[in-house]
Amino acid sequence: MSELTNAQRSTLHIAPIRRYTPIIHPEAYDRSSLKQHIERLCDPSTPVTDESLVSLVLKCFYGFVHEGMLDTPIPLRDVTELFNLFSRHRSLNEPGDDIGLMNTLRRYSYALRMLADVPKSAHILRSIIGKKLCSEEHDGEFVGLDIGSGTGVLMIGQYIQARRNGFRRIESWGIENDLFLGERTFSFCRDLRVGIIVPVDAKRPEAYSVVAGKKPVSVANETISAMSSDLGTEDFMSINKMLFRVLRGNLKDAHFFPEGLIVYAREQNVSVLLSKSNAFLGPKEYRSMHLYPQGLIIEEQIVPLHSIGEEFQKFFPEQSRWMLHRRW
Ligand SMILES: C[S@@+](CC[C@H](N)C(=O)[O-])C[C@H]1O[C@@H](n2cnc3c(N)ncnc32)[C@H](O)[C@@H]1O
Repeated sequence: MSELTNAQRSTLHIAPIRRYTPIIHPEAYDRSSLKQHIERLCDPSTPVTDESLVSLVLKCFYGFVHEGMLDTPIPLRDVTELFNLFSRHRSLNEPGDDIGLMNTLRRYSYALRMLADVPKSAHILRSIIGKKLCSEEHDGEFVGLDIGSGTGVLMIGQYIQARRNGFRRIESWGIENDLFLGERTFSFCRDLRVGIIVPVDAKRPEAYSVVAGKKPVSVANETISAMSSDLGTEDFMSINKMLFRVLRGNLKDAHFFPEGLIVYAREQNVSVLLSKSNAFLGPKEYRSMHLYPQGLIIEEQIVPLHSIGEEFQKFFPEQSRWMLHRRW
């Protein structure tokens, strides 16, 4: 007799059969440890493939949650299991769940959700890591700023960006105002030797004292609201106001993520561009309006927010996609 399908089992109120489907296609997964993986990507002779970026995000997710696993190869099954648990971390535990682990997922939930949005995180990383920079123009000194660093994943990207572009001295700073998270990210990034997290509100001038008198080469600020929310529900604009007020001309040659943010201004019924040329604040007359994020300039192209990461979807089996998060 053939086995009942899950649809038939559901009609008969029988528990569904849970089959293991890996979070990504196994052939796309890089089995090396997170540290080895980062080191390999730092070598400019190693091509940065989309598969390697997806694997990097998956291993960052695992390594952030499980302390002390940075030198250890992580089986894909373990990463998949963690995604599975993360998909229900907001709910009550099931019998047999590791309470400590489930509470770790809850504690860092917001930042982990960004990593669990693997396709979009991988796309953002590609835009940072793939950016060609001229180290001589900066006397071989790389100063990186990751504002709203979360798990520090973009700072890892900036570190790889610096190494691939031949910078000899690298200093990267992450600014994070969630203190619980900042503490964990501090040790994660310290152990990976990619940079230092400063636990401070990026809307305050002292947040930038670590780079006083320096010229940042790379700046990331991913404090962008969901498409359904006013940009003002996050600190993106207020951070830019302070960042450009404090660092001014020192940002002249910096590469930014995002390269530009396109927002819809409801009052004027038009879309406007926030970019480096207007301190990511847009034209003056729009600044007090209700603005809704719509798209990014990324890798020098305009991409609607819903399409960020689209090219990376193919690495995820249909049956596993439900475990992914979507920030936009
Ligand atoms: C959308 S998450 C992005 C995290 C990370 N950059 C990534 O791509 O995964 C935004 C992060 O910025 C932090 N954040 C928001 N406002 C901030 C502020 N004013 N100062 C410092 N950090 C802030 C939040 O706590 C959160 O960790």
